[in-house]
Amino acid sequence: MPVTSLNRRAACLSLLGGMAALAVPFRSDAEARFDERTKVFRLDGDGVTYAFGIDSVGQIQALHWGGSLAVDDPLPAAPKPSDFSGFDRANSVTPLEYVAFGGGLVTEPSLKVAFPDGGRDLVLRYAGHEMTAEGIRVRLKDISAEVHVELTYGMDKATGMLSRSARVYNRTRRPLRIDQMAAATLNLPFADDYELHYLTGRWAGEWTVQKRPLEAGSTVLESRLGMTGSQNNPWFAVGRKDVSEEENGPVWFGALAWSGSWRMVVEKDILGHSRITAGYNPFDFAYLLKPGESLETPVFYAGYSPDGMGGASRRMHRFQRTVILPGAPAPKLRPVLYNSWEATEFAVTEQGQVALAEKAATLGVERFVMDDGWFGKRNNDRAGLGDWTVNREKFPQGLTPLIRRVRELGMEFGLWVEPEMVNPNSDLYRAHPDWVINFKGRPRSEGRNQMVLNLARKEVCDYIIKSLDLLLSENDIAFLKWDHNRSWSEPGWPERPVAEQQRLYVDYTRHLYAILAEIRRRHPRVEIESCAGGGGRVDLGIMRFSDQVWPTDNTDPFDRLKMQDGFSQAYMPGVMMAWVTASPNWVNKRSTSLEYRFLSAMQGCLGIGDNLNHWTPDEFATAKRLIAEYKAVRATVQRGDLYRLISPQDNSPRSATLSVSDTRRQAVLFAFLHSSSKFEPAPLLQLRGLEPQTRYAVRAFAGTVADDTPKVASGAYWMNHGVKLPLRGDFQAAACVFDAV
Ligand code: GLA
Repeated sequence: MPVTSLNRRAACLSLLGGMAALAVPFRSDAEARFDERTKVFRLDGDGVTYAFGIDSVGQIQALHWGGSLAVDDPLPAAPKPSDFSGFDRANSVTPLEYVAFGGGLVTEPSLKVAFPDGGRDLVLRYAGHEMTAEGIRVRLKDISAEVHVELTYGMDKATGMLSRSARVYNRTRRPLRIDQMAAATLNLPFADDYELHYLTGRWAGEWTVQKRPLEAGSTVLESRLGMTGSQNNPWFAVGRKDVSEEENGPVWFGALAWSGSWRMVVEKDILGHSRITAGYNPFDFAYLLKPGESLETPVFYAGYSPDGMGGASRRMHRFQRTVILPGAPAPKLRPVLYNSWEATEFAVTEQGQVALAEKAATLGVERFVMDDGWFGKRNNDRAGLGDWTVNREKFPQGLTPLIRRVRELGMEFGLWVEPEMVNPNSDLYRAHPDWVINFKGRPRSEGRNQMVLNLARKEVCDYIIKSLDLLLSENDIAFLKWDHNRSWSEPGWPERPVAEQQRLYVDYTRHLYAILAEIRRRHPRVEIESCAGGGGRVDLGIMRFSDQVWPTDNTDPFDRLKMQDGFSQAYMPGVMMAWVTASPNWVNKRSTSLEYRFLSAMQGCLGIGDNLNHWTPDEFATAKRLIAEYKAVRATVQRGDLYRLISPQDNSPRSATLSVSDTRRQAVLFAFLHSSSKFEPAPLLQLRGLEPQTRYAVRAFAGTVADDTPKVASGAYWMNHGVKLPLRGDFQAAACVFDAV
């Protein structure tokens, strides 16, 4: 039965009213146990054990997070907490799983509240637990007030990835203000040689890997932007200095699944205990809980690998593929796409797009995406956002003729949208100037000439769902590139009672998720890319609703190598879009060969973003050949295990990656050279992850292998002896595939 717009609207309202749970309905199939005698809980999965226990005063103490222990290993009960001095009371120097501001706490609280009488003391004690289908639920309660907290623990058996989240309940008779709330505090085993790895960036320069020793004090990773941000990504990894390397040594890592303002505090206390607390960013935060209400946090996922940074990434990648992404455990492979942005910018027309589509189809492109400029009065970035109707000057018959042609050419059709935004010069803003995030009577700062719609408001969500639903119902659209080109300013919600206005920080993002879920529910075939002026919104929260992400607007193939390396620390290559665009590239005016540009983009999900009207027949031939090669190896590149053989970081002139398929029947090697000097010979690259006994044939599909390379050899040969790709010159690249014979 067709769904009428009326009951669709009702469905939308009830959906947002209920606000879908934040915690992923997590299939925690790991072993969860509780020892009555010692009061110790433990979770086990894929070589990882996580254990915690109730101590004699009812606090929950961390006991073990690392490699797995034997089932019958005696985990001693949590020790009796004791003060270190009059300045440092027990709660500040004990490795606690979740600690509220109260009882003299001076370290980072997991939770901080304010009572209506001005009281801000909260001391949580164990109040019960349940072993659930999701794992373990531990209940805590304040020593006197009816403030309850539930901690939820789960573990994915296949990857050992721990999931932790918290929910606070106000069961008092008066409102309770939440000033700060984390999903979890994770305590690292005691050691004094930790090194913290994290990711920083900015527009066109995302995914920079940073390292610093974890010394006494705190390191704060955060976003105050109302969105994930590229300044810091909500991911961390901790290794042991000079012990943990790319493929060896212990690494603890984690990521917060949240696409709004977030914070991770990495602390080393006065006794040398290290811990990481992650959740809502307390900066400008306040969430009023009325009696009977509760607030849930996003999920903080965490893992452990004994196999260095590479092992940590591979676990994260596998976890994303099998648990997080739409279609998990087997998300669809990413099609090769064409995107019009760099070719035409806002100057899209039916004729121009058809011409590009016809050329793209000859290359073997599978999805044609029209970027910005097709709607409203959108001729530049100063107008049109918010008006999601087709621009009739550019598309007199609507989108149908273009889409029909794209479909005839054997491709899917995709479209760019930026639904959370509005230009002041738009019909939407003229009709609803109150729909943007703003403070009454104050300036409304613009970013890229646009403002942010207040998604915390239901009527705004209704409008977005209605506009997109119409677009997707009337047109044969397979894909949306969902953009978000500015961060928040003046974060006000004047329509709400003063005490509730800062709920914006939670409600906006939850509603964004609800909108995405609703669009996907109504149009299950439509895939979505998360983009935020490049890589500003890549996190495990948005990835639940996004089939792929746009990591950066920087399409320079050499810059990309470093960014892709940074990206891959936390996120899988199988969601990372990468386009082949014009040379010289607009970012650095750097010239590179078409083959080099292809090989750089083939490390992720391949797209073409150049103006095909400028290509020569030779370029068409090269592109066609390499797209066919990509299709033959993409399952391995997108889903396989990634080994970063040579890192492009620290100005290394060389870099190389290897992807090995799940079955270990195929491996794909990419090697790059920035510039050669002094006749330096190419190194032998020792492969990883192959079956030693299996025989693999090597075939270079770009560049060559050294003359003395055998055509077929055992996995042991390729891993222990290696293969040489003799690159010489500037911006050189080669790639080969190893297929089991
Ligand atoms: C952002 C995106 C680009 C492009 C433009 C269009 O910058 O990251 O890829 O879509 O918007 O305005």
